[in-house]
Amino acid sequence: MAEITVNGETRRADVEGDTPLLWVLRDTLGLVGTKYGCGVAQCGACTVLVDGVATRSCQLPLDALAGRPVTTIEAIEADPIGARLVAAWVALDVPQCGYCQSGQLMAATALLKETPKPDDAAIAAAMTNLCRCGTYNAIAAGIRRAAEAA
Ligand code: FES
Repeated sequence: MAEITVNGETRRADVEGDTPLLWVLRDTLGLVGTKYGCGVAQCGACTVLVDGVATRSCQLPLDALAGRPVTTIEAIEADPIGARLVAAWVALDVPQCGYCQSGQLMAATALLKETPKPDDAAIAAAMTNLCRCGTYNAIAAGIRRAAEAA
């Protein structure tokens, strides 16, 4: 039995320590907003915050968390930065199919925590998650809008 702090709550998961965090979130804790894309830490669909840092959960074994708190898309609007980003996403109709957008929002939240007013180069450097609909320009516009709203 492992303990994990997710979205401010201590949760228990009856899984092996090498189970990737993504599957603990989705299959054990029912937090299905975090998506599976590639499974090899390349696409970013599974991005969550671990101690505030954008982290690809599909390749992070539960044991490697070492007690660090996890934030998922389900709690993103409890964070003022996350709430501003969600508002910008809605205002600008950023998502198309939407599949990757929870990971995009988590990565954008981590970016604005680290760099409150990012320039285009900083946005490009931080936002490496893939989007098969090609919403990259809309995502960048959403980040700029949320930064301006601070
Ligand atoms: S599913 Fe984790 S990076 Fe693609």
